[in-house]
Amino acid sequence: MTSTNDIRRGFLEYFAGAGHVEVPSAPLVPYNDPTLMFVNAGMVPFKNAFTGLEKPPGPTAASSQKCVRAGGKHNDLDNVGYTARHHTFFEMLGNFSFGDYFKEQAIQHAWTLLTKEWGIDAGRLTATVYHTDDEAFDLWRKIAGLPEERIIRIPTSDNFWSMGDTGPCGPCSEIFYDHGDHIDGGPPGSPNEDGDRFVEIWNLVFMQFEQQADGSRADLPRPSIDTGMGLERIAAVMQGVHDNYDTDTFNELIAASESLTGVRADSDHQASHRVIADHLRSTSFLMADGVLPSNEGRGYVLRRIMRRAMRHAHLLGAAEPLMYRLVPALVTEMGQAYPELVRAQPLVEETLEREESQFRRTLEKGLRLLDDATASMNEGDKLDGETAFQLYDTYGFPYDLTEDALRSRGLDVDRAGFDAAMEKQKAAARAAWKGSGEAADSEVWFDIAEREGATEFTGYTSTSGEGTVVALVRDGAEIASASEGETVTILTNQTPFYGESGGQTGDAGTVSTPEGLQISVKDTSKPLGRLHTHSSTIEAGSIAVGDTVHLEVDIERRDRIRANHSATHLLHAALRNRLGGHVTQKGSLVADERFRFDFSHPKPLSDEDIAAVEAEVNAEIRRNEQVVTRLMSPDDAVEAGALALFGEKYGEEVRVLSMGGLGEDGRSYSVELCGGTHVKATGDIGIFRIVSESAVSSGVRRIEALTGEAARKWLVCREDALKSIATTIKAAPDEVGERVAALVDERKRLEKELAEARRQLALGGGGGATDEVSTSEDVAGVTFSGQVVQGLNPKDLRSVLDEAKQSMGSGIAAICAVNDGKAAFAVAVTDDLTDKFDAVSLVRTGVEILGGKGGGGRADMAQGGGPDGEKAQDAIVAVRESLIESAA
Ligand code: SER
Repeated sequence: MTSTNDIRRGFLEYFAGAGHVEVPSAPLVPYNDPTLMFVNAGMVPFKNAFTGLEKPPGPTAASSQKCVRAGGKHNDLDNVGYTARHHTFFEMLGNFSFGDYFKEQAIQHAWTLLTKEWGIDAGRLTATVYHTDDEAFDLWRKIAGLPEERIIRIPTSDNFWSMGDTGPCGPCSEIFYDHGDHIDGGPPGSPNEDGDRFVEIWNLVFMQFEQQADGSRADLPRPSIDTGMGLERIAAVMQGVHDNYDTDTFNELIAASESLTGVRADSDHQASHRVIADHLRSTSFLMADGVLPSNEGRGYVLRRIMRRAMRHAHLLGAAEPLMYRLVPALVTEMGQAYPELVRAQPLVEETLEREESQFRRTLEKGLRLLDDATASMNEGDKLDGETAFQLYDTYGFPYDLTEDALRSRGLDVDRAGFDAAMEKQKAAARAAWKGSGEAADSEVWFDIAEREGATEFTGYTSTSGEGTVVALVRDGAEIASASEGETVTILTNQTPFYGESGGQTGDAGTVSTPEGLQISVKDTSKPLGRLHTHSSTIEAGSIAVGDTVHLEVDIERRDRIRANHSATHLLHAALRNRLGGHVTQKGSLVADERFRFDFSHPKPLSDEDIAAVEAEVNAEIRRNEQVVTRLMSPDDAVEAGALALFGEKYGEEVRVLSMGGLGEDGRSYSVELCGGTHVKATGDIGIFRIVSESAVSSGVRRIEALTGEAARKWLVCREDALKSIATTIKAAPDEVGERVAALVDERKRLEKELAEARRQLALGGGGGATDEVSTSEDVAGVTFSGQVVQGLNPKDLRSVLDEAKQSMGSGIAAICAVNDGKAAFAVAVTDDLTDKFDAVSLVRTGVEILGGKGGGGRADMAQGGGPDGEKAQDAIVAVRESLIESAA
């Protein structure tokens, strides 16, 4: 038997051998198309390559693409488990030509691979063509030699394939395999075509057009080829079984659920085992590609699929959560082809276990309610919408789960009644909000949120993507369109832009369209905590509600923000380790250039504390452990050791970030609740540097820090300053500290010596560079000494004058010391003269000349000063003259 894994490999090797580039499967979330919920065909990742917007990976390519058909145009959810070929998750094998080969070679390749390489009996193959496609008809005759009755012309959309309401499309040709007349069913196009005998295995699409939103079709730049073969179907053919669920992969998954539940997949329980196997694949692969369960958008589709499977696990009598225990079997089967599944295994298991434990709390009660409500119903009856809504709202039953639960009894649900009940609840929420006195300018956002639901944030896993414009707002009111020069706020159905919240600044980037719209978004906000809004002025082009726009986050800025945000978590943990468990986060600001982190602590951090905290954070950065994100209920998160912000309002579910190495208790270095964006591994932070520590208020400290390139620049700047000091003082940078300390000491010593020298000079001793000194003279019969001294410390004036008095015996001395242009002035009168001369009034005479005010002291010694140091000599002269005057 050829295993599914061998078939996948064989397909890719065949086309690689024929010159095709082998392209790995794209993630299930299509960031290049806002109208699609999940990748639902192998060509989706190449959509823009077909239309000419993007460069294809090569002229031809081949892939095995993961696909999910649940929600959106191609939705197979309801049939899964009850038919032989419906799946929510499947793999599509495809070969693609981007303007290289067209119909002939596409048919040639398909025929060669199926009949020559794989040896499938040509007699069992039938082809269909679009009814007008004579060319394809002739090619099937020529290449495959198929008789005319086995080339069937189909006039319906079955043979005109389109990706969605818009996008590449074209006529197609399908290859059918006849499983044999023991199975009921007729060939395609026959009245009994829906029977299971003839199964479509490969669809060759001759891509020629692009379906436009207005209904018209434009030609693609060049005719191209998109083919798609369901791996599960071809595996069934090659393994000689009719039912996809009887192939090796499903056998293994079903064997695992049989062994864990002890219930055989016989007729009564077959559907449950199949639903579980299928849903295990879609939920695991979705989580591996970054979708996590939530109550909105893609996350809700994931949750719906999970809960359906969980009800079936319950039907099989599973007493404990089952799904997560099946993940190892899935990884064994598919992990080699899809390494992302292996990487995500812990996250997938943990999320499934938590979701199932949580849902089991209400599942049984809900089922009881459902049994009671339907006890007296007969086949064909409908459950009332109110009850279905109660099951949804109170017991967490997605609508389709209720439908599925009633299916085996032939009962249905009143959808209109359910919708009406939902509407009623929304209206009540609206009335409550209106009465809450919220600011009027957020009313527009409330209306939009109610209409559009939350913005789907794709930015945890991607930094660019497409979005559909669902609203434009200007001056608090909705508008339909805007053009160049106008400032608008744009809301799209999904966006990779993080809206400012939780201390993390909003993303910046560009919004554009191929038609010429250009907007640079400087910031993204998050009104009502649910909508991500991009505000800016339109630089070029125009925008209208309904447009598809390309959203591109400024990646470098985002990376800086990520590094800073992750560093706050490490810092928080390091502070608690060093200072104690009383340290809790009191706020933070995570911008791209820097971050600050406020925390409770009663006193300033010592230099040693700061150094130790910084070293510890850097050590965690160097360990470079992967950062792990999980989704939990707030209670479970706190139990798992997560640090929560006290007083914050958390939703039903929280993201839990684990960072750094594992401690002895098995917990990560840091575990926190956080909705922000983070690095993949701590090494991405680079360097961490604390640049300040200060007080915010009593008991709250603030650390400001830098990471990565900003930290490096900061350090380089310091290093440059050090080098320039080293050059100036002619020392090696290592010795700067010692040398500067020595220079400071030397300077102190020199200053002291200089002061002493000046004092000596003022006293008339010493020699050398003297100032203008007037020697003693006889003025009006008394000995007068007046001198101006540069640089003499004012506090030395008195001692200089005391010495002057002593040496004079009897007389008057005036001294003016000039420092930095300012003058200190003092006058001394020997005791024998104080009845005739007053030092205070003499000082005042001088002070006035010096532009100062007052001056004081005693009759024998007084002091003052003034700003006009250049008038020092005049002040001395004025005192001398006043002596003459008073003697006259
Ligand atoms: N796009 C086509 C399909 O999905 C062929 O790949 O069927």
